[in-house]
Amino acid sequence: MNIVITGGAGFIGGNFVYYMLKTRPADKIICYDALTYAGNMATLKEAAENKNFVFVRGDIADREAVYRLFEEEKPDIIVNFAAESHVDRSIENPEIFLRTNILGTQVLLDACRKYGIKRYHQVSTDEVYGDLPLDRPDMFFTEKTNLHTSSPYSASKAGADLLVSAYHRTYGVPTTISRCSNNYGPYHFPEKLIPLMIINALHDKKLPVYGEGLNVRDWLYVEDHCAAISMILQKGKEGEVYNVGGHNEQRNIDVVKIILKELNRSETLIEHVTDRKGHDRRYAIDPTKIMTELGWQPTTKFADGIKLTIKWYLEHKSWWEDIISGEYRDYYAKMYDNR
Ligand code: NAD
Ligand code: DAU
Repeated sequence: MNIVITGGAGFIGGNFVYYMLKTRPADKIICYDALTYAGNMATLKEAAENKNFVFVRGDIADREAVYRLFEEEKPDIIVNFAAESHVDRSIENPEIFLRTNILGTQVLLDACRKYGIKRYHQVSTDEVYGDLPLDRPDMFFTEKTNLHTSSPYSASKAGADLLVSAYHRTYGVPTTISRCSNNYGPYHFPEKLIPLMIINALHDKKLPVYGEGLNVRDWLYVEDHCAAISMILQKGKEGEVYNVGGHNEQRNIDVVKIILKELNRSETLIEHVTDRKGHDRRYAIDPTKIMTELGWQPTTKFADGIKLTIKWYLEHKSWWEDIISGEYRDYYAKMYDNR
């Protein structure tokens, strides 16, 4: 099989490239990525040494380039990770989110119609369901929960999901969608909560917690997400949506304290800063469907996964030092100075 992984130079896509090279050695893995600020060839260094791996630089919203990709690589499967993924950036500048996440998805779907495909898989997010109240621990997102978005990012992801479903129903494109909770693990871009806090703590810099830090996220180790997508490709039913999550809810402030404890740093580094606009309160996935219908189970507990993640950042300093010494410095100053 020829498997195109879009956004494979990013966090989850990069982990998925390695997962597929390891678990499907007979397949050709083609990474298609525009290498935006979030894409990093250093993430694919070892993959590039594998004879089954090919990298093609390109934009999912560039129709000509995508059609050329289909003509040259003749994909059997597309897994679309390519996206603008950071909520805070979407609040600053929504437009690129609509272009990449919605129009880019449409171009990929058009290519699937034109050239044919065995499966198009859309990597979506639990954020399309909006948020849950903090005082209702009995409530979870199921696949039947209404789409109800908060940020330009989540609105763009919901728009893409609706297009995927429309292309399945109207044109019969064989699609599946997964909606996963927050991932963490190796190659996570330093703008996101967990790597940002690890890196700031290592530099004895302030840890900027939005508001009181009581918002809840449902954390899943990235390899468990990769395994879920792989299982959906093998056993998932066309036209279906699968929620992915491991019942691992944590308040932000508690995650930050765990990181400080692991790194033997003082909690006085914590600084409460102005809250994110429209900040979603709680995410919590009900993963019953993927567990019962496909037999997926998460394997890494948060207590172990966070240790593995911190160890990875300690052992791969050059990977993140290269990032934080570049344009990231301007981003950080813009988002956090005088916040
Ligand atoms: P990321 O920002 O780390 O990586 C995104 C990748 O997409 C980068 O390599 C970037 O270069 C590439 N890209 C961006 N625009 C592109 C374009 N126009 N054409 C081609 N490539 C482009 O993102 P991530 O955190 O790895 O998320 C991957 C996917 O998973 C996204 O679709 C996101 O919505 C979804 N998701 C993320 C999480 C999470 O916790 N990070 C959870 C659930 C779902
Ligand atoms: O739920 C899945 C989503 O998880 C994905 O769809 C998104 O692509 C991904 O970025 C992530 O979104 P979040 O907004 O939940 O992740 P982020 O790491 O940006 O923030 C996690 C929580 O931490 C959130 O409540 C905001 C808070 N936060 C974040 C940063 C960057 C802080 O308190 N301080 C910070 O500096």
